[in-house]
Amino acid sequence: MTKICCIGAGYVGGPTMAMIAHKCPKVEVHVVDINQARIDAWNSDVLPVYEPGLYEIVAACRGKNLKFSTAIDQAIREADIIFISVNTPTKTFGAGAGRAANLEYIERCARRIAESAHGHKIVVEKSTLPVRTAEAVKRILSASANGATFDVLSNPEFLAEGTAISDLLDPDRVLIGGENPAAIERLVDVYAHWVDRKKILTTNLWSSELSKLTANAFLAQRVSSINAISALCEVTEANVDEVAAAIGTDSRIGPKFLKASVGFGGSCFQKDILNLVYLCEHYGLHEVAEYWEQVVKMNDYQKARFTRNMVKTMFNTVSGKRLAIWGFAFKKDTNDTRESAAIYVCRDLLRENAILNIYDPKVAHEQIRNDLRDLMANEAGELNQLDRRLIDNNVHVVESTQAAASGAHAIAILTEWDEFKTADFERIYSQMQKPAFIFDGRNILDHQALKQIGFEVHAIGRRV
Ligand code: NAD
Ligand code: UGA
Repeated sequence: MTKICCIGAGYVGGPTMAMIAHKCPKVEVHVVDINQARIDAWNSDVLPVYEPGLYEIVAACRGKNLKFSTAIDQAIREADIIFISVNTPTKTFGAGAGRAANLEYIERCARRIAESAHGHKIVVEKSTLPVRTAEAVKRILSASANGATFDVLSNPEFLAEGTAISDLLDPDRVLIGGENPAAIERLVDVYAHWVDRKKILTTNLWSSELSKLTANAFLAQRVSSINAISALCEVTEANVDEVAAAIGTDSRIGPKFLKASVGFGGSCFQKDILNLVYLCEHYGLHEVAEYWEQVVKMNDYQKARFTRNMVKTMFNTVSGKRLAIWGFAFKKDTNDTRESAAIYVCRDLLRENAILNIYDPKVAHEQIRNDLRDLMANEAGELNQLDRRLIDNNVHVVESTQAAASGAHAIAILTEWDEFKTADFERIYSQMQKPAFIFDGRNILDHQALKQIGFEVHAIGRRV
């Protein structure tokens, strides 16, 4: 029986390992983490990750061939295959700060594996890593305390949050990079339990590592491209959704990932592009670095532009005005707020002295305040008095769209949650200040119907 250990019980480690356990009943899967609270949550009825369909799979496998614990050394000792799925955030200090990936968690895992392992192990990089990280991982592992031997594979994850279960069930591809064909085949065998072998691509280690960064850079580039065009649409009376539909019918372009928005968020797009930029600079490829950096700059511009438009439209001041913020997660169907455009928009509105009523169906109240604190704090993690007062006094986290909009001058849609489309807008309108504005940062509402009710509607990349 194959035994798998996964170090890192986060948004990737948890769902991916649950799927392997679900599809491979004869494989024993042990997911470990240093964070006891997170492990406790994986063992409870309220999982730490909200993802449609995830709970059912975890509940079906937990206690059978799927285990969550903090017994990291034991899990390493017992496993044949060890996945490393820890976080690789952007470095905030020292050389490469603000760009390079912080690999300290990866290094700690590699050292711990080197200390605890016996015999032969396959170590799989599941985290997203700079190209050639496997080289460092191999060197650390080669100093094994117990004479263990290792193969290192790269197996980046392509799931998107909110659709993780369907992405894992039916992936466009599984990518495995490595050197030793026997080790590669061992991992191919695991995925081949449910993924067509034709969809399992094998490459050298470096192509696999670099493909992951490149895939995210290309996806983010599409969003920044359509968002750039949205700004042009707003001044020319073209409609960005019509433009997207028109270009998306070209089979060479394709229709996906052309939805103009308030800006992309999520833990990875920005981090991975900045990582790519840093790598290019490291290798002296300055033009290539600048090219990709523009994708992030365009995203910053889009987020800032959204807030500027709100303020300008509302007679150049939102000071003292109550504004309803609908949605705080970086996309629908997830409780994840990492790098959500909403955090930036809320910060900018708060600094205009607005009063915010924030509602998100899945994000914990404290998370919203923490995100704002983290963004507004200085490098030492401290808030100045003014920002502290703004967060304490001007932020109200509420339980419904209705509660958020009550008494408000405007509604800003920052996440495309389905429930926002079916809100009772007649009633909401009657409870708002007039003129009542809607700023649809996701272009999901029926703008004509809202206008008929009496709202003044502003959307991304189209005149309403
Ligand atoms: P996460 O922060 O949700 O989870 C990482 C977990 O690793 C945390 O629970 C943390 O406690 C744990 N951890 C850190 N150091 C550890 C150590 N030394 N020993 C044991 N546990 C440790 O991160 P995530 O979103 O799951 O992302 C993990 C990796 O996968 C990142 O490299 C990310 O870029 C990549 N990725 C993420 C997604 C996504 O949708 N979130 C998709 C594809 C790839
Ligand atoms: C993204 C990739 O889609 C995954 O393949 C990848 O595995 C993952 O990053 C990762 O490496 O972490 P994710 O960030 O979870 O997945 O979600 P996406 O669906 O890609 O959305 C990212 C952001 O772009 C969201 O804020 C979303 O609202 C925005 N977006 C997406 C748009 O504004 N317009 C679009 O057309 C598509």
